[in-house]
Amino acid sequence: MALAQPRLRPDNVDEVLKAMTLEEKATLLVGAAQAKVVNGVPTGEAPKVQGAAGATAEIERLGIPMTILADGPAGIRIEPIRPGDDKTYYATAFPVGTLLASSWDVDLVRKVTEAMGNEVLEYGADVLLAPGMNIHRNPLCGRNFEYFSEDPLLSGKIASAYVQGIQSNGVGVSIKHFAVNNQEQNREWGDSRVGERALREIYLKNFEICVRESNPWTVMSSYNKLNGIFTQQNYGLLTNILRHDWGFSGIVMTDWGCKVGTVDAVKAGNDLMEPGAPIEIQRIIDAVNSGEISTDELDRNVHNILQYIVKTPSFKGYKYSNAPDLKAHAEIARRAAANSMILLRNMDNTLPFKGSEKVALFGISSIDFVSGGTGSGDVNEEYTVNMEQALLGAGFSIDEELSQYYHRCYDKAHAQKDLVTGDDPVSKMIMWFNGSKIPEVELPEDCLGFLADRNDVALVVLGRNAGEGSDRKLRDDFELTSVESALLTRVSNAFRAVGKKVVVVLNIGGVIETASWKNRADAILLPWSPGQEGANAVTDVLLGKVNPSGKLPMTFPISYFDVPSATNFPYGKEVNETPNPWAPKKVRENIDYTDYDEGIYVGYRHYTTNNIEVSYPFGYGMSYTTFEYSKPMVKVAAEGITATITVTNTGSVAGREAVQLYVSAPAGGLDKPKMELRSFAKTALLAPGESQSLSMNFTPYDLASFNEASNAFETASGAYTAFFAASADDIREKAAFKIAKASSYPVWTDSSK
Ligand code: GLC
Repeated sequence: MALAQPRLRPDNVDEVLKAMTLEEKATLLVGAAQAKVVNGVPTGEAPKVQGAAGATAEIERLGIPMTILADGPAGIRIEPIRPGDDKTYYATAFPVGTLLASSWDVDLVRKVTEAMGNEVLEYGADVLLAPGMNIHRNPLCGRNFEYFSEDPLLSGKIASAYVQGIQSNGVGVSIKHFAVNNQEQNREWGDSRVGERALREIYLKNFEICVRESNPWTVMSSYNKLNGIFTQQNYGLLTNILRHDWGFSGIVMTDWGCKVGTVDAVKAGNDLMEPGAPIEIQRIIDAVNSGEISTDELDRNVHNILQYIVKTPSFKGYKYSNAPDLKAHAEIARRAAANSMILLRNMDNTLPFKGSEKVALFGISSIDFVSGGTGSGDVNEEYTVNMEQALLGAGFSIDEELSQYYHRCYDKAHAQKDLVTGDDPVSKMIMWFNGSKIPEVELPEDCLGFLADRNDVALVVLGRNAGEGSDRKLRDDFELTSVESALLTRVSNAFRAVGKKVVVVLNIGGVIETASWKNRADAILLPWSPGQEGANAVTDVLLGKVNPSGKLPMTFPISYFDVPSATNFPYGKEVNETPNPWAPKKVRENIDYTDYDEGIYVGYRHYTTNNIEVSYPFGYGMSYTTFEYSKPMVKVAAEGITATITVTNTGSVAGREAVQLYVSAPAGGLDKPKMELRSFAKTALLAPGESQSLSMNFTPYDLASFNEASNAFETASGAYTAFFAASADDIREKAAFKIAKASSYPVWTDSSK
């Protein structure tokens, strides 16, 4: 009997599903190689989007096209140079996730990702494998640069804006890594052991906000286990929580690997195995034939994938240009970076510069400037402006001799660094993963005196890189290296001895130690890894063209050992063996499993509740102007709670202020942090003397804590206090309000079933 072969349309998914063979269904549940294959033989035709991370399978007979999945969170990652093609395919390296979150500005994030999503569309991809949004549980996680914050509300709201911006182009996202993937150490096999309350209130809450508010096309399950079950095989997580509790209606794909539990993944609701291997197709076919996978389970996942495919540009036959407006996007990246970076210190108004200063530019990172992190979160951009180019471009004069010294060091180090060459897969992987940063260099002994005499100001750039596949280290990474520390001391002593200022620029991917050296600097600016135009953005802020308005999305502790997870985060421990998941082995604490002992007390929740002093608090950031808060008010109505505050620019230059709203809950019942971020808002650019009234809306559910005993979120009745704050340590105004009736919000089930 001839096979029915309806052609896929948005309105005949069920009909096509019915017409599919078991082989075709299993094929669609497993990622495909982009290269065209006929009867098992690659045709040699160039892949549609070279360098894209993966694809879904094409089933020509039914009009089901291949769809393309491309990394990453700071911009699309594709091959810029292609054999036999004289066109280039560079993409824009936008600010990394942590810098976007530092803006506390959902409109800015949406604008950046509208541009980023346009490059996904115009380069022929269908989904951007982003945003990375795991909570910053510990400063040493290698991928924190891709992620947003230690706080689930800020992370969830930024992620929602990110998804809305990308998807406004008619392409999809893959919010990742779902869930509790907060370290790189043993990421593929490690078991994240988390209590249900911390899971719900902290590690899932940002994903929940994002799913409910922005309807992401896809979710990427993480490599790790959650309480003993691989997340990709975890029915409680992927079906009960993600779909039943939160109403997610897209598809779930695995992270890039091939675990043995394909059948469990299909049954758990993980629709797509990426990047996909033939063995996985066979496992699915065998399991359906044996009844281990029911037809309902198989068809449920295939239906999800067909519903995803009909939304894609590939299905719609979009004629992509391969020519997005990179110039315009570079401008957007620069403006976003300038309006997101954080001014941590500015003694006696050291900044902004006048522009006529002669600058002694210190630090190898002033040349080896880092636009983004390494691994799949990296972008192949055409250029990255470095600090020296940016200063010269802005008309500054810099100390020539010092510059030449650093260039000589850079050239020598680069020559050595490029020793890892070769086309073999191992060399390629080393180069791909490590993107190693050139370490700081010593200065010649007797140069500081005359450098301080002949220049007006010292600018020291300290750089760090980090990325996928490994966590950071404590020594010489979280902490300054001895060479960096000596550099700062010598520059500070020499320039201050002649009454001149020292400005430090932190071109870093994650939190570092600052308490021991910040007093040696007169000003400190934190641009993180700000994208290809980031150095120009730094100069815009140094000159006051942009008044900095970013604020910290995480805490800078005084010591690493103040971090609540310091005792059970494997900071850079070498794994002495590759864990073989198929063979019994000794269980290694913090390698085979990590106990999230601190529960919900992550970041400022820990430091404020336990009155622990920090170097720079969550939400902290300075401006070139000052702001006053007034008229605090909280109104509780049936439709929700509205908190309003008036912010006035009391300084002499225009500026913007990000206001945080923390709430403390009534005593009694569950133990709760001293206060928790429940909303935030950012003013427009206020002229000196100008005021703006900000309204922040939230609901009783947003105030709820998770009660494990009743397996429900619960909002207690009683007296609450709203704190209107410039940072977690800087409460400006407060207002009391009451919740008359307690509410309970039961959840489907816990994550282990
Ligand atoms: C990687 C990363 C993930 C990325 C994927 C495709 O292992 O964990 O973030 O999107 O593989 O490159």
